[in-house]
Amino acid sequence: MTTTCSAPGKIYLFGEHAVVYGEPALACAVELRTRVSARSSNDTTIKSGIGTTGLDFEVHPYVSSAIKKLGSPTVEIKISSDIPVGSGLGSSAAVTVATLAAINIEFGLGYGNEDIARIGHEIEKEVQGAASPTDTFVSTFGGVVEIPSRKRLNLLECGIVIGNTNKGASPKKTAKLVKQVAQLKEEYPDSINPIIKIIGSFARHGKEMISEKNYNSLGKLMNVNHGLLDALGVCTIELSALVYAARNAGAYGAKLTGAGGGGCMVALTDSPREVADAIEKAGGQAIITRFTSEGVIKE
Ligand code: PMV
Repeated sequence: MTTTCSAPGKIYLFGEHAVVYGEPALACAVELRTRVSARSSNDTTIKSGIGTTGLDFEVHPYVSSAIKKLGSPTVEIKISSDIPVGSGLGSSAAVTVATLAAINIEFGLGYGNEDIARIGHEIEKEVQGAASPTDTFVSTFGGVVEIPSRKRLNLLECGIVIGNTNKGASPKKTAKLVKQVAQLKEEYPDSINPIIKIIGSFARHGKEMISEKNYNSLGKLMNVNHGLLDALGVCTIELSALVYAARNAGAYGAKLTGAGGGGCMVALTDSPREVADAIEKAGGQAIITRFTSEGVIKE
């Protein structure tokens, strides 16, 4: 038997970086998935776009850790993914969650999704040194989620386009940028603390706008959130070029998503084709996708 599970990536509508200091954030699962097949076998092999290895904590740290956490069964793992790696879309959480779920079913281990999310978070912390539970939680359960309360909100009914700068992608980027913001905050607490508080206020307003389906206002606040992330020093010229291109093409709003320093931006729009074209013209790689309530699933 082979079991295939898939898990989605995520974007932040509001609140990255501020969430590190206890402010609320809104994260949404998007229909870009990582698929992992698990088959009981005599040897452990892990096959992905990076290459084929055995249990290998250098090349395949997340998958190797997932196998180990579940008691090191000998298993053949095959991975394919729509999610750009290390770009703020939660690719590592998706591969971790999908691997845990596929092994869980293939070997009849009996874990529930709460366990998958918890073990997934443990793995991310071990591999990265630090990680918020956001990515593994959203990848496991899907939907639109307020962090840290884990409250689920309605799914947005508008379109979404992601723009990848194809620059600065690195799994180590998040830790570096979180540290950079922490230093700025330490140097100028009276100036930086209010910025963090204001970013928190967007998630509070955003919740209401989502329930009212007021995507115009939501977009406006995303634009302000982008400006404040720029103020915190985590934006790049390439990210802003894609953000402005998306806005000029009529998006409700656009901002960088995730840690910044390169990686991806996100635009809300009802004209995804026009916004995607504008992003490509501005030098980015556009991905038209949609919000999804589906977290990890068996395929
Ligand atoms: O780039 P990502 O998807 O790892 O997002 C980082 C979000 C931060 O708020 C900057 C850090 C965190 O752990 O919440």
